Amino acid sequence: MPCGMFTNLLRMRLLINSTLASLAALVFLTSTAPAKAQLPPRPDTLSVAGFVQPQPLMQSLNSTETVTSPANQLTAPTPAPAAPRKFTYTCCNVEGSYVAMTFDDGPHPKLTPKLLDFLKERGIKATFFVIGKNVAEFPDIAKRIVDEGHEIANHSWTHPQLTKLSPSAFAAEIAQTNEAIEKATGVRPVTMRPPYGAINANLTKRLNEEYGLSVILWSVDPLDWKIRKSDHVSSHIIKNAAPGGIILAHDIHASTVDAMPGSFDALLAKGYKFVTVSELIAMDRPPAPKAASQKTP
Ligand code: NI
Repeated sequence: MPCGMFTNLLRMRLLINSTLASLAALVFLTSTAPAKAQLPPRPDTLSVAGFVQPQPLMQSLNSTETVTSPANQLTAPTPAPAAPRKFTYTCCNVEGSYVAMTFDDGPHPKLTPKLLDFLKERGIKATFFVIGKNVAEFPDIAKRIVDEGHEIANHSWTHPQLTKLSPSAFAAEIAQTNEAIEKATGVRPVTMRPPYGAINANLTKRLNEEYGLSVILWSVDPLDWKIRKSDHVSSHIIKNAAPGGIILAHDIHASTVDAMPGSFDALLAKGYKFVTVSELIAMDRPPAPKAASQKTP
């Protein structure tokens, strides 16, 4: 059960989001169908339930470091075709014990470098969902994140609840953060995480179409922002990690960063390989069809 650790509530919200987004996209495509029919087919488009995916997976301007993780040596056999890229991910269906470790709300001037050292010592790649104004304040740390092969991703400019903003305020939160990240690192993000996980179908569609951003939620949540105990954080992560999982943590709390060496080492000992979120998405496969239930006489 690689993808089953998220809550029913989250699952329901995602279903509603994707259904609404697909319907909205279908209406949009239907209304523009005559014009599109005259265009040659685009080789880089993926059709997802009537939605045309506008962006390729990786948009790194500094892309040499973002695809492969030397320490993890991604040589996964890929017999099944890749699933079409989706709007939103809470986890992925992958072959092999791959997980994505994600850190939100930084960069932090002391704790993020400390965490980067822990990751470097183990050759582990992670994903950092950064706050734009923190990137503007600590651009060198953002650059180090990218230079050391991690994925850098958008977590808004000021960490508001995006669903409560005006359209222009929403756009400013996303665009300003993308610009700060690109200025500091040379990389344009392709993934984002909404603060508090607060998102809706309309915003998801805008993020995907206007900014080329996939929405990344999570399947493992140690509540490290609330329970500031390293033992709790590491034991929750170790217990709940599963193949294809996306693990949420925050690199602005000392208790979280202190929990990471033990968490990493335990998961490595269990055979897990750490990849970035975009690497995990690239390995996502459609779920295997369920075997037809047959009654034995
Ligand atoms: Ni956050």
